[in-house]
Amino acid sequence: MGFFFRRKEIKASAVPETLPRHIAFIMDGNGRWATRRGLRRENGHRAGAKTFREIARTCFQRGIETVTVYAFSTENWKRPKNEVDEIMRLLSSYIDEAFSDFKNEDAEVRFIGRREGLSPELQSKMDKLERASEGRRYRLRIALNYGGRDEIVRAVNRLIECGEREVTEQMISGALDDSKAPDPDLVVRTGGDTRTSNFLLWQSAYAEYVFTKTLWPDLTPGEIDEILSDFSKRHRRYGGL
Ligand code: FPP
Repeated sequence: MGFFFRRKEIKASAVPETLPRHIAFIMDGNGRWATRRGLRRENGHRAGAKTFREIARTCFQRGIETVTVYAFSTENWKRPKNEVDEIMRLLSSYIDEAFSDFKNEDAEVRFIGRREGLSPELQSKMDKLERASEGRRYRLRIALNYGGRDEIVRAVNRLIECGEREVTEQMISGALDDSKAPDPDLVVRTGGDTRTSNFLLWQSAYAEYVFTKTLWPDLTPGEIDEILSDFSKRHRRYGGL
């Protein structure tokens, strides 16, 4: 299946020839990172937001066209209100900065996930940022209030609303939140758990997975290079031989 912990002995090397076109990250471990330092979990998310920018920038610099990050799931509302508020604040202030951020990397920003449930101010900022960054070469996708099953159900309902009575795989792919991006070639989960947690369920059918014990705020460009080197050695068969 290709699910395994990345081997530590793989050394960073020059950017490999076979790069993923699309890499997706489950940014797990912010809470533990903070708790281990005697800090509040919110501090972990703040550190995580910093790491997110560095890692996204690294991926674009390496030539990866699309980067998706799982910032907030449809299940994350169950967390204490303080923590939810802090993540929303971070996202909101990130969006403010994102108007200039990633300009150098020529990246457009897209949000995937359910818009309802987010504050009207946040929704309006998200729309503005998407419009302002449209047409750039690289694509940064932020999964916010996102659930893979929820996305598939909303896609099918969109097709039904358009009058379809029977759907095909192509039609579902085309009705997802952002059908412009290619499917992820590689999904990386930090924090040591080996779950997919309802992330890009439809799109990851043939993705390679890397699970690393590194907590998200500790992820470095050097480890990204190791992961890319590991990816370039994998033989993807897509169900064939
Ligand atoms: C999972 O770690 C992380 C989250 C639920 C939030 C991720 C949010 C950010 C990195 C900050 C904002 C993002 C952007 C794009 C600006 P966890 O809290 O489950 O960690 P734990 O497993 O150690 O408790």
